[in-house]
Amino acid sequence: MNKCPVSEFCGGCQFQGIDYATQLEIKQKKAEDLLKDFHNVEKIIGMEDPDHYRNKIQISFACDEHKNTISGYYIPSSHMIVPVNECLLCDEKLNEIYISVRKILKKYRVSVFDERNMKGCIRHLLIRSTNLNEYMLVLVTGTSSIINQDQIVKEIIKYNPDIKTIIQNVNNRFTSAILSNRNNILYGKGYITDELCGLRFKISANSFYQVNKRQTEILYNTALDLCDLKENDTVIDAYCGTGTIGMAASRYVRKVIGVESNESAVKDALNNKKTNNIENIDFVLDDAGRYMDNLSSHDARIDVVIMDPPRAGSSTKFMSSMVRLSPKRVVYISCNPITLANDLRYLSRYYKIKKIQPVDMFSYTQHIETIVQLSRR
Ligand SMILES: C[S@@+](CC[C@H](N)C(=O)[O-])C[C@H]1O[C@@H](n2cnc3c(N)ncnc32)[C@H](O)[C@@H]1O
Repeated sequence: MNKCPVSEFCGGCQFQGIDYATQLEIKQKKAEDLLKDFHNVEKIIGMEDPDHYRNKIQISFACDEHKNTISGYYIPSSHMIVPVNECLLCDEKLNEIYISVRKILKKYRVSVFDERNMKGCIRHLLIRSTNLNEYMLVLVTGTSSIINQDQIVKEIIKYNPDIKTIIQNVNNRFTSAILSNRNNILYGKGYITDELCGLRFKISANSFYQVNKRQTEILYNTALDLCDLKENDTVIDAYCGTGTIGMAASRYVRKVIGVESNESAVKDALNNKKTNNIENIDFVLDDAGRYMDNLSSHDARIDVVIMDPPRAGSSTKFMSSMVRLSPKRVVYISCNPITLANDLRYLSRYYKIKKIQPVDMFSYTQHIETIVQLSRR
Protein backbone atom coordinates (compact mmCIF):
# COMPACT_ATOMS: atom_id res chain seq x y z
CA MET A 1 0.00 0.00 0.00
CA ASN A 2 1.27 3.51 -0.82
CA LYS A 3 1.93 5.74 2.09
CA CYS A 4 -1.16 7.70 3.05
CA PRO A 5 -0.55 11.48 2.69
CA VAL A 6 -2.33 12.32 5.97
CA SER A 7 -1.17 9.45 8.16
CA GLU A 8 1.10 11.67 10.27
CA PHE A 9 -1.83 13.84 11.36
CA CYS A 10 -4.74 11.44 11.32
CA GLY A 11 -3.35 8.96 13.83
CA GLY A 12 -5.61 6.15 12.62
CA CYS A 13 -2.71 4.14 11.16
CA GLN A 14 0.28 3.80 13.46
CA PHE A 15 2.05 1.36 11.09
CA GLN A 16 1.91 3.26 7.78
CA GLY A 17 5.06 2.74 5.72
CA ILE A 18 5.97 -0.46 7.61
CA ASP A 19 5.83 -3.64 5.54
CA TYR A 20 3.15 -6.10 6.58
CA ALA A 21 5.50 -8.88 7.76
CA THR A 22 7.16 -6.39 10.15
CA GLN A 23 3.76 -5.17 11.38
CA LEU A 24 2.91 -8.75 12.33
CA GLU A 25 6.25 -9.17 14.11
CA ILE A 26 5.59 -6.03 16.17
CA LYS A 27 2.14 -7.28 17.14
CA GLN A 28 3.46 -10.74 17.99
CA LYS A 29 6.08 -9.22 20.29
CA LYS A 30 3.53 -6.96 22.00
CA ALA A 31 1.10 -9.88 22.50
CA GLU A 32 3.94 -11.98 23.94
CA ASP A 33 5.11 -9.18 26.25
CA LEU A 34 1.61 -8.80 27.69
CA LEU A 35 0.43 -12.42 27.72
CA LYS A 36 3.40 -14.79 27.83
CA ASP A 37 3.14 -15.19 31.62
CA PHE A 38 -0.19 -16.94 31.11
CA HIS A 39 0.77 -19.29 28.27
CA ASN A 40 2.90 -19.55 25.15
CA VAL A 41 1.48 -17.19 22.46
CA GLU A 42 0.77 -18.85 19.08
CA LYS A 43 1.98 -17.21 15.87
CA ILE A 44 -0.43 -14.43 14.85
CA ILE A 45 -2.79 -15.31 11.96
CA GLY A 46 -2.13 -12.57 9.39
CA MET A 47 -4.33 -11.34 6.55
CA GLU A 48 -3.80 -12.63 3.04
CA ASP A 49 -4.43 -9.14 1.65
CA PRO A 50 -3.89 -6.44 4.29
CA ASP A 51 -5.11 -3.48 2.17
CA HIS A 52 -8.59 -1.93 1.85
CA TYR A 53 -10.16 -4.33 4.31
CA ARG A 54 -12.49 -2.12 6.33
CA ASN A 55 -16.23 -2.30 5.66
CA LYS A 56 -16.98 0.94 7.48
CA ILE A 57 -15.90 4.56 7.12
CA GLN A 58 -16.86 7.41 9.46
CA ILE A 59 -16.21 10.91 8.17
CA SER A 60 -16.77 14.08 10.20
CA PHE A 61 -17.59 17.55 8.89
CA ALA A 62 -16.71 20.98 10.28
CA CYS A 63 -16.07 24.59 9.19
CA ASP A 64 -12.61 26.12 9.42
CA GLU A 65 -12.03 29.69 10.63
CA HIS A 66 -12.78 31.02 7.09
CA LYS A 67 -16.08 29.11 7.03
CA ASN A 68 -14.78 26.58 4.49
CA THR A 69 -16.08 23.03 4.87
CA ILE A 70 -13.57 20.40 5.94
CA SER A 71 -14.30 16.71 6.09
CA GLY A 72 -12.14 13.88 7.34
CA TYR A 73 -11.02 12.13 10.51
CA TYR A 74 -10.66 13.52 14.00
CA ILE A 75 -7.07 13.92 15.19
CA PRO A 76 -6.88 11.48 18.15
CA SER A 77 -8.11 12.89 21.50
CA SER A 78 -9.19 16.16 19.86
CA HIS A 79 -12.12 17.74 18.08
CA MET A 80 -9.90 18.90 15.21
CA ILE A 81 -10.38 17.32 11.81
CA VAL A 82 -7.63 16.34 9.42
CA PRO A 83 -9.01 16.57 5.85
CA VAL A 84 -9.24 13.14 4.21
CA ASN A 85 -10.30 12.37 0.64
CA GLU A 86 -9.55 8.67 0.75
CA CYS A 87 -8.81 6.18 3.51
CA LEU A 88 -6.46 3.43 2.40
CA LEU A 89 -7.80 0.99 4.99
CA CYS A 90 -11.32 1.11 3.58
CA ASP A 91 -13.05 -0.83 0.84
CA GLU A 92 -12.37 1.41 -2.22
CA LYS A 93 -16.03 1.90 -2.99
CA LEU A 94 -16.63 3.41 0.46
CA ASN A 95 -14.19 6.16 -0.54
CA GLU A 96 -15.95 6.68 -3.87
CA ILE A 97 -19.35 6.96 -2.17
CA TYR A 98 -17.99 9.41 0.40
CA ILE A 99 -16.64 11.74 -2.32
CA SER A 100 -19.81 11.45 -4.40
CA VAL A 101 -22.10 12.21 -1.42
CA ARG A 102 -19.90 15.13 -0.33
CA LYS A 103 -20.22 16.63 -3.84
CA ILE A 104 -24.01 16.23 -3.82
CA LEU A 105 -24.37 17.79 -0.35
CA LYS A 106 -22.27 20.73 -1.52
CA LYS A 107 -24.30 21.12 -4.72
CA TYR A 108 -27.54 21.38 -2.68
CA ARG A 109 -25.88 23.77 -0.21
CA VAL A 110 -26.50 21.62 2.84
CA SER A 111 -25.01 23.48 5.81
CA VAL A 112 -22.29 21.94 7.95
CA PHE A 113 -22.75 21.42 11.69
CA ASP A 114 -20.64 23.77 13.77
CA GLU A 115 -19.83 22.38 17.20
CA ARG A 116 -18.96 25.83 18.55
CA ASN A 117 -22.55 27.07 18.30
CA MET A 118 -24.25 23.68 17.82
CA LYS A 119 -25.89 24.89 14.61
CA GLY A 120 -25.97 23.50 11.07
CA CYS A 121 -26.93 20.25 9.41
CA ILE A 122 -24.39 17.68 8.27
CA ARG A 123 -22.16 16.40 11.06
CA HIS A 124 -20.86 12.99 10.00
CA LEU A 125 -21.21 10.41 7.22
CA LEU A 126 -21.12 6.76 8.16
CA ILE A 127 -20.93 4.33 5.25
CA ARG A 128 -20.94 0.56 5.62
CA SER A 129 -20.56 -2.27 3.12
CA THR A 130 -21.12 -6.02 3.21
CA ASN A 131 -19.66 -9.05 1.47
CA LEU A 132 -22.82 -9.05 -0.72
CA ASN A 133 -21.80 -5.58 -1.99
CA GLU A 134 -24.68 -3.82 -0.28
CA TYR A 135 -23.93 -0.31 0.98
CA MET A 136 -25.55 1.75 3.75
CA LEU A 137 -25.26 5.51 4.04
CA VAL A 138 -26.00 7.25 7.33
CA LEU A 139 -26.26 11.05 7.21
CA VAL A 140 -25.70 12.24 10.77
CA THR A 141 -27.27 15.67 11.14
CA GLY A 142 -27.51 18.33 13.83
CA THR A 143 -30.91 19.39 12.48
CA SER A 144 -34.04 17.27 12.27
CA SER A 145 -34.66 18.20 8.62
CA ILE A 146 -32.35 18.25 5.61
CA ILE A 147 -32.86 20.96 3.00
CA ASN A 148 -33.76 19.46 -0.44
CA GLN A 149 -33.85 16.02 1.12
CA ASP A 150 -35.80 14.26 -1.66
CA GLN A 151 -33.60 15.55 -4.49
CA ILE A 152 -30.47 14.73 -2.51
CA VAL A 153 -31.58 11.14 -1.85
CA LYS A 154 -32.55 10.65 -5.51
CA GLU A 155 -29.23 11.97 -6.75
CA ILE A 156 -27.19 9.90 -4.27
CA ILE A 157 -28.94 6.72 -5.46
CA LYS A 158 -28.62 7.69 -9.12
CA TYR A 159 -24.83 7.98 -8.85
CA ASN A 160 -24.36 5.20 -6.27
CA PRO A 161 -26.85 2.43 -7.10
CA ASP A 162 -25.16 -0.05 -4.71
CA ILE A 163 -26.46 1.98 -1.77
CA LYS A 164 -29.37 -0.13 -0.54
CA THR A 165 -30.45 2.13 2.29
CA ILE A 166 -30.03 5.74 3.43
CA ILE A 167 -30.67 6.69 7.05
CA GLN A 168 -30.72 10.08 8.71
CA ASN A 169 -29.43 9.96 12.28
CA VAL A 170 -30.24 13.13 14.22
CA ASN A 171 -27.49 13.90 16.71
CA ASN A 172 -27.62 17.43 18.12
CA ARG A 173 -26.05 16.75 21.48
CA PHE A 174 -22.60 17.92 22.57
CA THR A 175 -20.95 14.51 22.44
CA SER A 176 -18.07 12.64 20.87
CA ALA A 177 -20.39 9.72 20.02
CA ILE A 178 -21.02 9.65 16.27
CA LEU A 179 -24.58 8.30 16.42
CA SER A 180 -27.64 9.00 18.53
CA ASN A 181 -30.63 6.65 18.71
CA ARG A 182 -32.83 8.88 16.49
CA ASN A 183 -32.96 7.29 13.04
CA ASN A 184 -35.20 8.19 10.09
CA ILE A 185 -35.08 5.89 7.10
CA LEU A 186 -34.86 8.04 3.96
CA TYR A 187 -34.46 5.22 1.46
CA GLY A 188 -34.61 1.40 1.48
CA LYS A 189 -35.23 -0.84 4.49
CA GLY A 190 -32.91 0.64 7.09
CA TYR A 191 -30.47 -2.28 7.03
CA ILE A 192 -28.02 -4.07 4.75
CA THR A 193 -27.31 -7.79 4.60
CA ASP A 194 -23.97 -9.57 5.00
CA GLU A 195 -23.06 -13.19 4.49
CA LEU A 196 -20.70 -14.81 6.98
CA CYS A 197 -20.03 -18.46 7.93
CA GLY A 198 -22.81 -19.50 5.51
CA LEU A 199 -25.39 -17.35 7.36
CA ARG A 200 -27.10 -14.05 6.50
CA PHE A 201 -26.93 -11.08 8.85
CA LYS A 202 -28.97 -7.89 8.72
CA ILE A 203 -27.01 -4.94 10.00
CA SER A 204 -28.59 -1.64 11.01
CA ALA A 205 -26.91 1.71 11.60
CA ASN A 206 -26.34 1.51 15.36
CA SER A 207 -25.29 -2.14 15.73
CA PHE A 208 -21.71 -3.25 16.27
CA TYR A 209 -20.43 -5.36 13.40
CA GLN A 210 -16.87 -6.60 12.84
CA VAL A 211 -15.11 -4.17 10.46
CA ASN A 212 -12.73 -6.52 8.66
CA LYS A 213 -14.60 -7.89 5.67
CA ARG A 214 -12.05 -10.66 4.95
CA GLN A 215 -10.75 -11.80 8.30
CA THR A 216 -13.93 -12.04 10.41
CA GLU A 217 -14.80 -15.53 9.22
CA ILE A 218 -11.27 -16.68 10.12
CA LEU A 219 -11.64 -15.11 13.58
CA TYR A 220 -15.00 -16.80 14.20
CA ASN A 221 -13.95 -20.21 12.89
CA THR A 222 -10.80 -20.15 15.00
CA ALA A 223 -12.84 -19.21 18.09
CA LEU A 224 -15.41 -21.94 17.40
CA ASP A 225 -12.67 -24.58 17.02
CA LEU A 226 -11.31 -23.55 20.42
CA CYS A 227 -14.81 -23.92 21.96
CA ASP A 228 -14.65 -27.66 21.26
CA LEU A 229 -18.46 -27.71 21.07
CA LYS A 230 -20.48 -30.84 21.90
CA GLU A 231 -23.96 -31.79 20.73
CA ASN A 232 -25.53 -31.41 24.20
CA ASP A 233 -23.83 -28.16 25.16
CA THR A 234 -25.60 -25.03 26.34
CA VAL A 235 -23.56 -22.03 25.24
CA ILE A 236 -23.61 -18.36 26.27
CA ASP A 237 -22.53 -15.87 23.60
CA ALA A 238 -21.79 -12.88 25.85
CA TYR A 239 -21.46 -9.38 24.33
CA CYS A 240 -22.99 -10.97 21.24
CA GLY A 241 -23.63 -7.90 19.03
CA THR A 242 -25.94 -8.98 16.19
CA GLY A 243 -25.58 -12.62 17.23
CA THR A 244 -23.03 -13.66 14.63
CA ILE A 245 -20.79 -16.01 16.66
CA GLY A 246 -23.68 -17.55 18.58
CA MET A 247 -25.58 -18.35 15.40
CA ALA A 248 -22.51 -19.93 13.85
CA ALA A 249 -22.14 -22.01 17.06
CA SER A 250 -25.83 -23.00 17.18
CA ARG A 251 -25.34 -25.61 14.44
CA TYR A 252 -23.18 -27.75 16.71
CA VAL A 253 -24.95 -27.55 20.09
CA ARG A 254 -28.26 -27.99 21.91
CA LYS A 255 -28.85 -24.35 22.86
CA VAL A 256 -27.26 -20.90 22.63
CA ILE A 257 -28.17 -17.74 24.59
CA GLY A 258 -26.82 -14.43 23.30
CA VAL A 259 -26.64 -11.47 25.67
CA GLU A 260 -26.08 -7.90 24.56
CA SER A 261 -26.83 -4.42 25.97
CA ASN A 262 -27.37 -2.54 22.69
CA GLU A 263 -31.04 -2.57 21.77
CA SER A 264 -30.55 -2.17 18.04
CA ALA A 265 -28.03 -5.05 17.96
CA VAL A 266 -30.51 -7.33 19.78
CA LYS A 267 -33.26 -6.38 17.30
CA ASP A 268 -30.89 -7.29 14.46
CA ALA A 269 -29.98 -10.54 16.24
CA LEU A 270 -33.66 -11.54 16.56
CA ASN A 271 -34.22 -10.76 12.87
CA ASN A 272 -31.13 -12.74 11.97
CA LYS A 273 -32.39 -15.72 13.95
CA LYS A 274 -35.57 -15.67 11.82
CA THR A 275 -33.78 -15.09 8.51
CA ASN A 276 -31.53 -18.08 9.14
CA ASN A 277 -34.31 -20.31 10.52
CA ILE A 278 -32.44 -21.01 13.73
CA GLU A 279 -34.58 -22.29 16.59
CA ASN A 280 -32.07 -23.17 19.29
CA ILE A 281 -30.88 -19.62 20.01
CA ASP A 282 -32.37 -16.89 22.24
CA PHE A 283 -31.25 -13.31 22.67
CA VAL A 284 -31.45 -11.26 25.83
CA LEU A 285 -31.20 -7.48 26.01
CA ASP A 286 -29.25 -6.94 29.23
CA ASP A 287 -25.96 -6.00 30.78
CA ALA A 288 -23.87 -9.15 30.41
CA GLY A 289 -22.69 -8.98 34.06
CA ARG A 290 -26.21 -8.59 35.44
CA TYR A 291 -27.48 -11.44 33.26
CA MET A 292 -24.71 -13.82 34.38
CA ASP A 293 -25.27 -12.83 38.01
CA ASN A 294 -28.95 -13.70 37.62
CA LEU A 295 -28.18 -17.03 35.95
CA SER A 296 -25.69 -17.97 38.65
CA SER A 297 -28.28 -17.38 41.38
CA HIS A 298 -30.58 -19.84 39.57
CA ASP A 299 -27.95 -22.58 39.35
CA ALA A 300 -28.26 -22.76 35.55
CA ARG A 301 -26.16 -25.36 33.71
CA ILE A 302 -23.87 -23.70 31.19
CA ASP A 303 -21.20 -25.70 29.36
CA VAL A 304 -19.42 -23.06 27.31
CA VAL A 305 -19.12 -19.26 27.48
CA ILE A 306 -17.91 -17.28 24.49
CA MET A 307 -17.12 -13.73 25.60
CA ASP A 308 -16.25 -10.85 23.27
CA PRO A 309 -16.31 -7.68 25.40
CA PRO A 310 -15.51 -4.14 24.20
CA ARG A 311 -12.01 -2.62 24.51
CA ALA A 312 -12.46 -1.89 28.22
CA GLY A 313 -12.64 -5.63 28.89
CA SER A 314 -15.14 -7.53 30.99
CA SER A 315 -16.55 -6.56 34.40
CA THR A 316 -15.82 -8.10 37.78
CA LYS A 317 -19.53 -8.85 38.07
CA PHE A 318 -19.47 -10.78 34.79
CA MET A 319 -16.35 -12.74 35.62
CA SER A 320 -17.25 -13.60 39.22
CA SER A 321 -20.72 -14.77 38.13
CA MET A 322 -19.16 -16.81 35.36
CA VAL A 323 -16.85 -18.45 37.89
CA ARG A 324 -19.90 -19.29 40.03
CA LEU A 325 -21.69 -20.73 36.97
CA SER A 326 -18.53 -22.68 36.30
CA PRO A 327 -18.80 -23.53 32.58
CA LYS A 328 -16.32 -26.23 31.50
CA ARG A 329 -14.88 -24.13 28.70
CA VAL A 330 -14.52 -20.40 28.07
CA VAL A 331 -13.33 -18.74 24.88
CA TYR A 332 -12.39 -15.09 25.36
CA ILE A 333 -12.14 -12.91 22.22
CA SER A 334 -10.43 -9.63 22.95
CA CYS A 335 -9.58 -6.51 20.94
CA ASN A 336 -7.32 -5.13 23.68
CA PRO A 337 -4.49 -7.28 25.09
CA ILE A 338 -3.99 -4.90 28.04
CA THR A 339 -7.50 -5.39 29.47
CA LEU A 340 -7.32 -9.05 28.40
CA ALA A 341 -4.22 -9.52 30.59
CA ASN A 342 -6.05 -7.93 33.56
CA ASP A 343 -9.05 -10.20 33.08
CA LEU A 344 -6.86 -13.30 32.65
CA ARG A 345 -5.10 -12.49 35.91
CA TYR A 346 -8.45 -13.03 37.64
CA LEU A 347 -9.76 -15.89 35.50
CA SER A 348 -6.54 -17.92 35.66
CA ARG A 349 -7.22 -18.57 39.37
CA TYR A 350 -10.18 -20.72 38.33
CA TYR A 351 -9.42 -21.61 34.70
CA LYS A 352 -6.44 -23.17 33.01
CA ILE A 353 -5.27 -21.18 29.98
CA LYS A 354 -4.80 -23.65 27.16
CA LYS A 355 -4.14 -21.55 24.08
CA ILE A 356 -3.53 -17.90 23.16
CA GLN A 357 -4.08 -17.16 19.48
CA PRO A 358 -3.69 -13.61 18.09
CA VAL A 359 -5.49 -12.87 14.81
CA ASP A 360 -4.73 -9.73 12.82
CA MET A 361 -7.98 -7.87 12.22
CA PHE A 362 -6.52 -4.37 11.84
CA SER A 363 -3.46 -4.10 9.57
CA TYR A 364 -1.59 -0.74 9.52
CA THR A 365 -2.86 -0.07 13.04
CA GLN A 366 -1.45 -1.12 16.41
CA HIS A 367 -4.64 -2.97 17.40
CA ILE A 368 -4.35 -6.64 18.32
CA GLU A 369 -7.20 -9.15 18.44
CA THR A 370 -6.60 -12.27 20.54
CA ILE A 371 -8.54 -15.45 21.23
CA VAL A 372 -7.90 -17.30 24.47
CA GLN A 373 -9.04 -20.84 25.24
CA LEU A 374 -9.67 -21.57 28.92
CA SER A 375 -10.83 -24.73 30.64
CA ARG A 376 -12.14 -25.20 34.17
CA ARG A 377 -9.47 -26.27 36.69
C1 LIG B 1 -16.44 -6.32 20.48
S1 LIG B 1 -18.19 -6.24 20.26
C2 LIG B 1 -18.52 -7.93 19.89
C3 LIG B 1 -19.79 -8.19 19.15
C4 LIG B 1 -19.95 -9.57 18.50
N1 LIG B 1 -19.45 -10.64 19.32
C5 LIG B 1 -19.35 -9.59 17.11
O1 LIG B 1 -18.39 -10.32 16.86
O2 LIG B 1 -19.86 -8.87 16.24
C6 LIG B 1 -18.74 -5.98 21.88
C7 LIG B 1 -20.24 -5.91 22.05
O3 LIG B 1 -20.52 -5.81 23.46
C8 LIG B 1 -21.65 -4.97 23.64
N2 LIG B 1 -21.59 -4.53 25.04
C9 LIG B 1 -20.83 -3.56 25.58
N3 LIG B 1 -20.99 -3.51 26.91
C10 LIG B 1 -21.87 -4.50 27.24
C11 LIG B 1 -22.42 -4.96 28.47
N4 LIG B 1 -22.10 -4.41 29.63
N5 LIG B 1 -23.29 -5.99 28.43
C12 LIG B 1 -23.63 -6.57 27.25
N6 LIG B 1 -23.13 -6.18 26.06
C13 LIG B 1 -22.27 -5.15 26.04
C14 LIG B 1 -21.49 -3.90 22.58
O4 LIG B 1 -22.73 -3.28 22.29
C15 LIG B 1 -20.95 -4.72 21.40
O5 LIG B 1 -22.00 -5.19 20.59
